[in-house]
Amino acid sequence: MKVFLTGGAGYIGSVLTRELVDTGYDVTVYDTFYFGEETLDDVKDEIKLIKRDIRKIEAEDLRGQDVVIDLAAMSNDPAGELNPNLTESVNHLGRVHVAKLSKEVGVKKYIAPSSAGNYGWSEKPVDETSPVSPITTYTVANHRWEQEILPMANKDFCVTVLRQSTVYGVSWRMRFDIIVNDFTLQVFKDKKIRIKGNGMEFRPFVHIRDDCQAFKRVIEADRDLINGEIFNVGTISQSVRIKDVMKTIFDTLGVEPKYDFGESIDKRNYIMDCSKIERVLGFKPKYRIEDGAKEVYKALEDGFLKADDPKTITLKWYKGLMEKGLMPLA
Ligand SMILES: NC(=O)c1ccc[n+]([C@@H]2O[C@H](COP(=O)([O-])OP(=O)(O)OC[C@H]3O[C@@H](n4cnc5c(N)ncnc54)[C@H](O)[C@@H]3O)[C@@H](O)[C@H]2O)c1
Repeated sequence: MKVFLTGGAGYIGSVLTRELVDTGYDVTVYDTFYFGEETLDDVKDEIKLIKRDIRKIEAEDLRGQDVVIDLAAMSNDPAGELNPNLTESVNHLGRVHVAKLSKEVGVKKYIAPSSAGNYGWSEKPVDETSPVSPITTYTVANHRWEQEILPMANKDFCVTVLRQSTVYGVSWRMRFDIIVNDFTLQVFKDKKIRIKGNGMEFRPFVHIRDDCQAFKRVIEADRDLINGEIFNVGTISQSVRIKDVMKTIFDTLGVEPKYDFGESIDKRNYIMDCSKIERVLGFKPKYRIEDGAKEVYKALEDGFLKADDPKTITLKWYKGLMEKGLMPLA
């Protein structure tokens, strides 16, 4: 099986690439490597690497591939606002271009790693039939991409959207700008967690290794089960209030809770029903926030992760690359 990952050197991609190599797949990673090629150092001899922007992807890059997983993107709301034109150009138009070309050259499955963030705000638990309310450049681009790729599905070209919960856990391209990882780092550094809001919002979470298993389920699934379908990735039991995530992390790490809340309320607040992916694909997360916090803390203690690594904060890193002319402005 030939699997082609755009963004395969990123936070999710560098873990997923290894998982797919271990499974015995023939993996190609296509990435601009904004975080360096070293995130794939120990597997680089077992995969093919292409260093280029997804907007420049060509038919020959994709010909012969069985599955495309399109992870390349400006990967969160703040990074998406840094340069809205670039975000629209990559996250919407660039990924539609990858999907169109994949279809043209006969790729069998196109997997779209979208985000639970598209739901925005809801009083009731959201499932795949619930309305979305994209309000940021990042979520608007995600939504437009989903809207354009789902109708491309036909008997030869299988399209599946995965709306992932916020991911946590250790990766070779670590991100400390996502909730569980950020809070664990704060406890590691100052034994205290500061947030801007009041912590009352509900958000869904999923461990990075479970997230990768969801991709594997889709790769291996019978196409009739997944073609033209959207799946929420996670489990309703990990849709929790942010203040409860903080408490779980303090309890897990055995640190006396010290909080610093702000006034503002995050505009995202929703509980995500993930029963469809469990029912259709048998996907059930194995790991909990406690596991992620312990692993991240230990990786910081062992020195595998560096507390002050500038690459771990996507927005700041991208700002620096743009200032140095190492990243396109549109
Ligand atoms: N991490 C999460 O919690 C989470 C949750 C929901 C959805 N997602 C989505 O999953 C996808 C992957 O997220 P991630 O956390 O691994 O992000 P990441 O920022 O770590 O990885 C993105 C990768 O894409 C590459 N890239 C960026 N622009 C590119 C371009 N124009 N052409 C080629 N490569 C490019 C980067 O170099 C990087 O390796 C993103 O679409 C993100 O929005 C992530």
